[in-house]
Amino acid sequence: MKDSNKLTYKRHTVTAALPYANGPIHIGHLAGVYVPADIYVRYLRMKGEDVIYICGSDEHGVPITIKARQEGVSPQEVVDKYHELIKASFARFGISFDVYSRTSAPIHHETAAAMFKTIHDKGLLVEKESAQYYDEDSKQFLADRYIMGTCPHCGYEKAYGDQCENCGTSLSPIELINPRSMLSGNKPVMKETRHWYLPLDRYEPMLRSWILEGHKEDWKPNVYGQCKSWIDQGLQPRAVTRDLDWGVKLPLEDTEGKVLYVWFDAPIGYISATREWAREKGKDWEPYWKDRDSKLVHFIGKDNIVFHCIIFPVMLHAEGSYILPDNVPANEFLNLENDKISTSRNWAVWLHEYLDDFPGREDVLRYVLCATAPEAKDNDFTWKDFQARNNNELVAIFGNFVNRTLVLTHKYFGGKVPAAGELEASDRETLDKIRDFPGLIGQQIEQYRFREALAQMMNLARLGNRYLTEAEPWKVFKQDPARVETVMNTCLQICANLAILCEPFLPFTAKKLQQMLQMEGGTWQDGGSPNLLSAGHAIGQAALLFEKVEDAQVQAQLDKLMKTRQENNSQQQAEPLKEEIRFDDFTRVDMRVAQIVAAEKVPKTKKLLKLTVDSGLDQRTVVSGIAEQYRPEDLVGKQVVLLANLAPRKIKGIESHGMLLLAEDKEGRLVFITPEQAMDNGSTIS
Ligand code: 2FM
Ligand code: ZN
Repeated sequence: MKDSNKLTYKRHTVTAALPYANGPIHIGHLAGVYVPADIYVRYLRMKGEDVIYICGSDEHGVPITIKARQEGVSPQEVVDKYHELIKASFARFGISFDVYSRTSAPIHHETAAAMFKTIHDKGLLVEKESAQYYDEDSKQFLADRYIMGTCPHCGYEKAYGDQCENCGTSLSPIELINPRSMLSGNKPVMKETRHWYLPLDRYEPMLRSWILEGHKEDWKPNVYGQCKSWIDQGLQPRAVTRDLDWGVKLPLEDTEGKVLYVWFDAPIGYISATREWAREKGKDWEPYWKDRDSKLVHFIGKDNIVFHCIIFPVMLHAEGSYILPDNVPANEFLNLENDKISTSRNWAVWLHEYLDDFPGREDVLRYVLCATAPEAKDNDFTWKDFQARNNNELVAIFGNFVNRTLVLTHKYFGGKVPAAGELEASDRETLDKIRDFPGLIGQQIEQYRFREALAQMMNLARLGNRYLTEAEPWKVFKQDPARVETVMNTCLQICANLAILCEPFLPFTAKKLQQMLQMEGGTWQDGGSPNLLSAGHAIGQAALLFEKVEDAQVQAQLDKLMKTRQENNSQQQAEPLKEEIRFDDFTRVDMRVAQIVAAEKVPKTKKLLKLTVDSGLDQRTVVSGIAEQYRPEDLVGKQVVLLANLAPRKIKGIESHGMLLLAEDKEGRLVFITPEQAMDNGSTIS
């Protein structure tokens, strides 16, 4: 088993997924990737480790060219706009990248092209002619998101050529049912084209031994599980080039109009960004990527697992001189107010807007996103929870303890740290506990358990609060001022420890608290000391570290979301019309008035009801996906419309004879189509 808990590496190369430069950063990105990665690197830096924290904008790929088309601007204009916005908002939020680069930079084009060329020249790519979808109107091959159709796995009608966003399956365009071009809406034709493939299948033994045998213990179960399922399903060669004009041009003769697939070039962006950083700092980038004594860690969201655990490592391995990641601590997704975060539906809390709406409260968001991070399963961000965590935890525990300590120190000792006198058992116990915190917190961080690490940090503030409340210096001072000196000394030492140990999580607060205590920031090793502030040291004035979030502020955010929801509803267009049919086609459809005579839930399913209907011709079983909208007992006796001559289908082992007609609105609400007045069962519909 690998021991990933030891920091026995010479240096750390930490990457955070490159965000697409086609929209701003939202809380889902932050909770999944940038906040945990920032905590990790800040901690390592405090430990004195050599660490580089790398990120940049992912500026290629079809979503960007589609956005540019929609807005009538060039792809470069799109990425310029969002690159600047993203970069600035990360900086304001205290995400401490060593470098924030971009994949449209010349150094990236050069690095990515060179990597492709090396792998190509080693003969490790497979060149193949194949027929691919082509839009004759737009004169363009339809890769990835340029094509849409029905998912063969779940029936979702808006699946993309590279992925179904409904069931999450990764697809290739030829798998789509009823494919249509996103450019013209037309049905594409097949046309021959030449591409280069990374033969992932050839690397299966290497991946099995590296991941399945080597990282069973230290990779998160969600990451390991996804890798295992990919490998067990059998890996397929993957095309790494595309017929597009936006991207990194192929460094081969006679390949006009071809670029690298965005998922081939984007992870190389980590390397180009490191090179850019090294160039600016006069350092050598290579050890960070090539020395086996470097620990490479990729922070990503769960939708990026296959690219970072399988495809990119195969590229690195094929190139030959690179190290592979030691860990890929991918997170699940964060939802917002019980709904999937979505850039296109504007269902998000945007970082730049948060920073404007809550100035000076960067750490509150950092805190809430870490405390609710979707580490093991999807999680939900709600504004009520944001308020509660701020008011009941940051204000009531951390802020309250620090404030009481500073105010009392000024009140009793003129703002000077009193000396500790004779220690009582409770003092000794408390001081002993302080010593454990750097280890307790650090151990969790090193295992990528940031929620638990944060909870431990807050336990230090809890310890202080409890100690102060129990010692009651305000009651003791008159009779025993010497006792209060000891108590306040202990409290001040806890505050000083907090000022150090909260830094990875709450960097703005750490600074503020250090200023209030008039202390220099410390190393992680300084944490745990019961003597961080010496007797006689003058502290600064007490100021509030955290302020309450008021109901009105929460309401304003909820109102904003409500407005988005209304706008979405009014903007959503009706489903596009299906292909034209002839009258003959319609007359082949036999619809009848029918009546539901019995209904029950299909066990172990959420959506299915088993219905017995009287069609006027027979009594038959129909399985219908309406269990979330209708209770079985409310349906008996209802007259509905039955598509009666549909071939029987087995659904969850039950043979379903026909289909009941329902209307579905934009929100996914389902209602039965019923005859306006009672009719005989079996009446025809035309
Ligand atoms: O999913 C995304 O947002 C991608 N832009 C992440 C790329 S990560 C890396 F490989 F560059
Ligand atoms: Zn699907």
